Amino acid sequence: MPCLVTVGGFFGDEGKGKIIAYLAKKDNPTIAVRGGVGPNAGHTFTFNGKEHKVRMLPSAILNPSTRLLIGAGVLVNPKVLLSEISQFNTEDRTYVDSQCGIIEQQHIDRDKSEDHLKGKVGTTGTGTGPANSDRAFRTLKMAKEIPELSLYIEDVSNSVNYALDARENVLVEGTQGTYLSLFHGGYPFVTSKDVTASAICSDVGIGPKKVDEVLAVFKAYVTRVGGGPLQNELDEQEAKKRGWLEFGSVTGRQRRAAPFDMELAKKAVRINSASQLAVTKLDVVFPETAGMRDYGKLPDMARKFIEEIEGETGVRVTLIGTGPELDDVIDRR
Ligand code: IMP
Ligand code: MG
Repeated sequence: MPCLVTVGGFFGDEGKGKIIAYLAKKDNPTIAVRGGVGPNAGHTFTFNGKEHKVRMLPSAILNPSTRLLIGAGVLVNPKVLLSEISQFNTEDRTYVDSQCGIIEQQHIDRDKSEDHLKGKVGTTGTGTGPANSDRAFRTLKMAKEIPELSLYIEDVSNSVNYALDARENVLVEGTQGTYLSLFHGGYPFVTSKDVTASAICSDVGIGPKKVDEVLAVFKAYVTRVGGGPLQNELDEQEAKKRGWLEFGSVTGRQRRAAPFDMELAKKAVRINSASQLAVTKLDVVFPETAGMRDYGKLPDMARKFIEEIEGETGVRVTLIGTGPELDDVIDRR
């Protein structure tokens, strides 16, 4: 499976980070390349009991032989990136496209002071919207103009395309989720660009014929932070009772929660042309499944849930998350 693209199937926070971290260990890609918006994303994964978080680097960091690339479509906050590079010791294997857009303090200030953004849309306040608007206005700085990044600059699309031509394994990491897409989500309660599979490919500079597999990641229930509609939203008390109350990894905001939404899932499969699905946090909905790694041992209720998703979407659920640890995965590939 040389080129696998991962995307979020709902509103972000589906657990892509953990699935990607697992795939990076298991499939040993030579390159992991990040698409998506920028440091508004937060990916969390746990390895040997230790929790890790990234906002800029690809979530494949724990595999020391994987090169970590950031595609031209991604906005870079140099401060956040440089601190992650030093935290994870990835100086010698991090590469940033020369044309990544740069987030400056003024973008963060605007994101936090515009009532329309922070108040109505409920942005993460990380400056991504104002930076992308400056980019469309052609006034945004590019990564190649930032001296602190000079060590890491390269042509990422060339690197990715050469690796694919050599039949190497490449993991393309999408961020956010289908329904936060500027084009396909519920405008105006969306992020500042498209984040579906085609857009992620464009972010890193590969054409649609280079992709072998698209993995859409769903959580076993739906969460959403910020404004906008959420079908069958639970009240806080019910969400808490079910153990579905989560807090954002970038903003610490409480996430709204709702049951798994099959209609959203079916549409996400179409928009992304998903060829495989992952379902994360099965153990949160079915506690008996915690830590299970064998599909055959799942209780009937949990298996029925997975089979209903497969029946309705027509796509196989190849990966199932059953706990926070990297290896708490049922891998049916
Ligand atoms: P922005 O991307 O910070 O402009 O925020 C726009 C909308 O997308 C808000 O509703 C955010 O909560 C949401 N959003 C952006 N990135 C993420 C993410 O990584 N996970 C979940 N929600 C996100
Ligand atoms: Mg997140």
